[in-house]
Amino acid sequence: MKGKIADPSLASEGERSYSWAYKNMPALVKTIESFGDEMPLRGRKVAMCLHVTKETSVLAMGLKRLGADVYLSAANPLTTQDDIAAYLSSQGVNVFAWRGENQEEYFSSIESILRAKPDIIMDDGSDAHVTFHEEKEFSDHKVMGGTEETTTGVTRLRALSKAGKLRYPVIAVNNAYTKFLFDNRYGTGQSTFDGLLRATSLLIAGKKVVVAGYGWVGKGIAKRARGLDAHVIVTEVDPLKALEAHMDGYEVMLMGNVAELGDVFITATGQINVIRGEHLEKMKDGVILANAGHFNVEIDVNYLKQNSISKKSVRCFVDEYLLKNGKRLYLIGDGRIVNLVAAEGHPPEVMMMSFSNQLLSVVNISENHSSLEKKVYDVPESIDKQVAKNALEAMGIKVDEITEEQRRYASEWKV
Ligand SMILES: NC(=O)c1ccc[n+]([C@@H]2O[C@H](COP(=O)([O-])OP(=O)(O)OC[C@H]3O[C@@H](n4cnc5c(N)ncnc54)[C@H](O)[C@@H]3O)[C@@H](O)[C@H]2O)c1
Repeated sequence: MKGKIADPSLASEGERSYSWAYKNMPALVKTIESFGDEMPLRGRKVAMCLHVTKETSVLAMGLKRLGADVYLSAANPLTTQDDIAAYLSSQGVNVFAWRGENQEEYFSSIESILRAKPDIIMDDGSDAHVTFHEEKEFSDHKVMGGTEETTTGVTRLRALSKAGKLRYPVIAVNNAYTKFLFDNRYGTGQSTFDGLLRATSLLIAGKKVVVAGYGWVGKGIAKRARGLDAHVIVTEVDPLKALEAHMDGYEVMLMGNVAELGDVFITATGQINVIRGEHLEKMKDGVILANAGHFNVEIDVNYLKQNSISKKSVRCFVDEYLLKNGKRLYLIGDGRIVNLVAAEGHPPEVMMMSFSNQLLSVVNISENHSSLEKKVYDVPESIDKQVAKNALEAMGIKVDEITEEQRRYASEWKV
């Protein structure tokens, strides 16, 4: 077995976390168990570039149970739970991940899992897919297909496909209804505040919370902020999303105008420099800045670094930047994905749906890769529906079945 982790002695602590996640991900467990004694991934090498969390450990062990030889690296240098890395390593997963990797170590870990010559590459953010496509070392490796977990990763893969350079089919797990409706919205909504509160321990009620982006992630964050009695203001660039935010009862403003009003700013756009120098300079003393988007590019952290008189760590995950205008701004987790850096990421109950899609997509690629084209596919509807059924069953919720009369009624044009 290969790998590099922080501390193997954390394995038993990791096992407790794994067991807790396992117990709280019944739909994923059901999906894994639905294969019975079959091992549809026997002989397959699967490279996973995902956040190394307790939920991911249930997926990794599931892939192993279905016969795969699993290689795992982190999808962000700061999100690895070292106890989970140790546990998975003790169970025969080839883990190349530790919390606090520098940029070079992060990409070197990704290269390590790609060097295993995987048949299937699973990714969150597409750093592994892009490294595979860009590094000469991998230019003659063949891959059956891949999966992608998040919005930003799907955007990058679509650009790769548009440029005619995508070398294998990829299933956009993010685009399954049973993924984005729950993971992006409820998962990120709740865990963003989990991270924000663990980091700052401050009161949200009565604060002006500015949410940049009203996509699935932004909607979840805005809703949770409102639930905590914040005054919520949304910024957007898409007129439809802006209108939706307005009708949902939020104030919609320009970032240029709200910069001087907000107490807490949370970015969730997947875009670059959404909060930049011109905004940072206008902000009040004591403002909290956090990012929930995939990459640490949404807040211009370089501007803060280059234009501050001082930077000091004031709490775990909280840096104080003293600007030349005398105002102090507090940045959480260096502008990296707040819910995974300052908390544990999404709750297992939403990840059981996202990861059921991942697991079934991997099996799908393993079985059907020869008939798939080199393009980005949505998750097949049959998988999405199966995941919804399993989740409902796990939650003990029953739904009605359409009657024969209703089926006929829906197919006729005469009333
Ligand atoms: N933190 C997590 O655990 C987590 C989970 C899921 C997704 N993500 C990431 O969060 C980001 C958002 O994901 P999503 O699914 O909500 O995407 P989305 O496409 O549904 O929403 C993004 C929204 O941001 C808006 N936007 C773009 N540029 C903007 C700007 N300059 N100012 C204001 N608004 C702008 C877009 O119009 C869109 O409505 C992505 O990077 C995604 O990968 C993070």
